[in-house]
Amino acid sequence: MKTKKIILDCDPGHDDAISIILAASQPSLDILGITTVSGNAEIEKTTRNALKICDLVSLNDVLVSKGASEPFIRIRETAPGIHGDSGLDGPELPEPSRSWSAEHGCDTIIRLIKGADDPVTILPTGPLTNIALALLKAPEIKDNIEEIVLMGGGTFGNWTPTAEFNIWADPEAAKKVFDSGIPLVVMGLDITHQALATKEVIDQVQEIDNDVARIVGELLEFFASTYKEMFNFSGAPVHDVLTVAYCVAPELFTTKEVNITVETKGEFTAGTTSIDLHGITGRKVNAKYGLELDTEGFWKMMIEALKTY
Ligand code: RIB
Ligand code: CA
Repeated sequence: MKTKKIILDCDPGHDDAISIILAASQPSLDILGITTVSGNAEIEKTTRNALKICDLVSLNDVLVSKGASEPFIRIRETAPGIHGDSGLDGPELPEPSRSWSAEHGCDTIIRLIKGADDPVTILPTGPLTNIALALLKAPEIKDNIEEIVLMGGGTFGNWTPTAEFNIWADPEAAKKVFDSGIPLVVMGLDITHQALATKEVIDQVQEIDNDVARIVGELLEFFASTYKEMFNFSGAPVHDVLTVAYCVAPELFTTKEVNITVETKGEFTAGTTSIDLHGITGRKVNAKYGLELDTEGFWKMMIEALKTY
């Protein structure tokens, strides 16, 4: 079977962690490497968390490289209120069995893309600092990128009234990526809020008798509790997992070809994604934007994937 070569760029983070777990279960995906970025927690924490999850799913031969420790120019902010102080509060996970690579995450992205025999799909699920750095340092990598399937943005916000966290955290980096001309698939809050891990879903996960499912259940329980407290949600939106799910089963998604650009100047609107859903600006289409999720099909896929561990 021809596999899809992917790089996961992430800030674990509960939903990032579940993305890694889903990706590792899919024979159709070839994870070339995992790079981390500061976001949900500081870079050392997000990187240790990525390594812990790699141990959990035996991704022992996949390189994990530490990337940007802060945004291009903005002051770093993290999200302990949602992911806990460790960035992955909830389950008890053993200390990582290995350390991160000495190579910077952005250099890993450049090296893996340049060395790949087939075009690579990048799945950023945190602030876009590493991706923008890689494009600045080696713009020629565009020639071997299939597409970028990212979690970020929305027609509303979750960190400010109009901006979603990943884009808000580094709007300058995000603008670089959105203006790059690379084919984009954007999973924003409009679709990720359809992927809620409710009690019913968590109960199904906890019925699966293996360690990975047990940890996922504990991750979801913690994540659902903070979303209940912060936003009164009836479940945890597993935002990032939709990037992997799209690569595995795009038929679960309804997308629309639109122009998306990023506001970087507004005092109150920096990090806002201007999503031209009705083509009123005349700006060139640069992305497929996720609108509808086959939620039942998504959770069915997730449960089946967890049963394979
Ligand atoms: O706004 C949701 C995004 O911010 C997700 O990627 C989550 O992991 C956090 O990074
Ligand atoms: Ca994330």
